[in-house]
Amino acid sequence: MGRRIGVLVSGAGSNLQALLDSGVDVVAVASNTTGAGALARAALAGVPTAVFPLDGYADRDARDLAMAAWLERHGVELVVCAGYMQLLRPGFLERFPDAVINVHPALLPAFPGAHAVDDALESGVAETGATVHLVDAGVDSGRVLRQERVAIVAGDTRETLHARIREVEHRLLPEVVKELAGG
Ligand code: GRF
Repeated sequence: MGRRIGVLVSGAGSNLQALLDSGVDVVAVASNTTGAGALARAALAGVPTAVFPLDGYADRDARDLAMAAWLERHGVELVVCAGYMQLLRPGFLERFPDAVINVHPALLPAFPGAHAVDDALESGVAETGATVHLVDAGVDSGRVLRQERVAIVAGDTRETLHARIREVEHRLLPEVVKELAGG
């Protein structure tokens, strides 16, 4: 058996779906928000979910430690941020050394942060892409594990470009997770 995987989500969860469909061993899904569509996908797949809203805790450190403890209770050994829109505090990262990864919709180190697709479009570059990288305490600053280019075409909007980037992410992320999880 490969390493057991926990997924952190904040949004629609199309990358979570790609992981679930790929057959890797997703054992727990956590979110910072009850509004994440990803939670319904996890529930449908029979994967335990939990929500850790910031306002339920004294501070970010306390929230992240509670989330780490819940993931550990479910046997998680590899954490995948799949559209998880908050930074992770060092206390969380120390619980999963070199075992937290993220998927980002740009060719890092270009366009880090929450508006990567818009930023690439507005900058006028001819191509952007998708990156899977290790997570550290910075903003999309951990070591790059895998990248793939996506051309920007005339008439692209945030939606059309992000849709093409997501297609790449849905292939790239499960590939990297399978390699890291082994088994
Ligand atoms: C993805 O494009 C990911 O790179 C970014 O947020 C988006 C999440 O999409 N961090 P989804 O929730 O997996 O559909």
